[in-house]
Amino acid sequence: MSGTAAQGPRLRPTLDSIPTYKPGKPASADSYKLSSNENPYEPLPGVLEAAITAAGSFNRYPDMAVSELSAELAARFGVPVEHIATGTGSVGVAQSLLLATAGPGDEVIFAWRSFEAYPIITRIAGATPVPVPLTAGEAHDLDAMLAAITERTRLIFVCNPNNPTGVAIHRAELERFLDAVPADVLVVVDEAYREFLRDEQVPDGVDVYRDRPNVCVLRTFSKAYGLAGLRVGFAIAHEPVATALRKTAVPFGVSRLAQDAAVASLRAEDALMVRVEALVEERTRVAAALAAQGWELADSQANFVWLRLGELTMDFAAACERAGVVVRPFPGEGVRVTIGEVAGNDIFLATAESFRKEL
Ligand SMILES: Cc1ncc(COP(=O)(O)O)c(C=O)c1O
Repeated sequence: MSGTAAQGPRLRPTLDSIPTYKPGKPASADSYKLSSNENPYEPLPGVLEAAITAAGSFNRYPDMAVSELSAELAARFGVPVEHIATGTGSVGVAQSLLLATAGPGDEVIFAWRSFEAYPIITRIAGATPVPVPLTAGEAHDLDAMLAAITERTRLIFVCNPNNPTGVAIHRAELERFLDAVPADVLVVVDEAYREFLRDEQVPDGVDVYRDRPNVCVLRTFSKAYGLAGLRVGFAIAHEPVATALRKTAVPFGVSRLAQDAAVASLRAEDALMVRVEALVEERTRVAAALAAQGWELADSQANFVWLRLGELTMDFAAACERAGVVVRPFPGEGVRVTIGEVAGNDIFLATAESFRKEL
């Protein structure tokens, strides 16, 4: 065997710098999974039925243009259908955005810590991640992000509200930021948790994008709509960007099951939003209980809370696991805990209380 053959196929060196995506740890049968920001409710009956019916034709390729869902979304948001681009979860759309905008030598700015896929998909595109630390208040440091822009910047992620801290950006701050970003840099406002927002000062990205050709909004059916396992998300963007997304997307990425379940979910929005409201009430209850225990919390506008535990992070996560809840630790930084079933939230609160007493 020649030397070259023994080394195996040559892979792109940039892959060596990519951390593997760490999904939330699965829970055992007798514990609660509060590690992936999923919706704890089972599928709505009508939505499940739509998916089951669609399953009857999975010998066929799905509708490549994702036409019914795109039309439904365009009507729902009052935007031209050409401005809608769908994909395999919003992370799939985010990856298409990168393939459409950035390659070797280009830079992508995002807050850090934020959604952990941002640096990964940036590297996959061959571009350079430029992480900008959050403020002491766990928020995006928009001034520092502006200062990080160079001639090589092609894309900026703004995660609103931010995963994993839950902090959201207000209208005036976001608009001032967008006004200062060069028109040839794409700003992606990732609103994966939009439906859980209750702070009225936070703008709807769809309002913000309308008169800004360099702004793209990302949304998902995975969180509030409870379709995480079906993989469907979408972007709302002006035509050149949306068209580019259709070119860079994985062909036939959105299955018929996903499309039909998403359409059924939009039509069952009232019932789904009752569930979202219950989760928001749970968030309020959990945050108040943590504050009463003495924890200092940033205001989370998403379906999770964030405890900055520093060096105690892994001890805390282990204590939760022993008690029967799986949370999401970021070693040395903190723990993100999804708002889930009431019983799971109660176990988390009891664990947080006894952990705090032992500090
Ligand atoms: C901020 C943010 N964006 C995007 C996603 C991706 O979600 P999906 O690909 O399921 O739509 C997530 C998932 O955790 C997220 O937290």
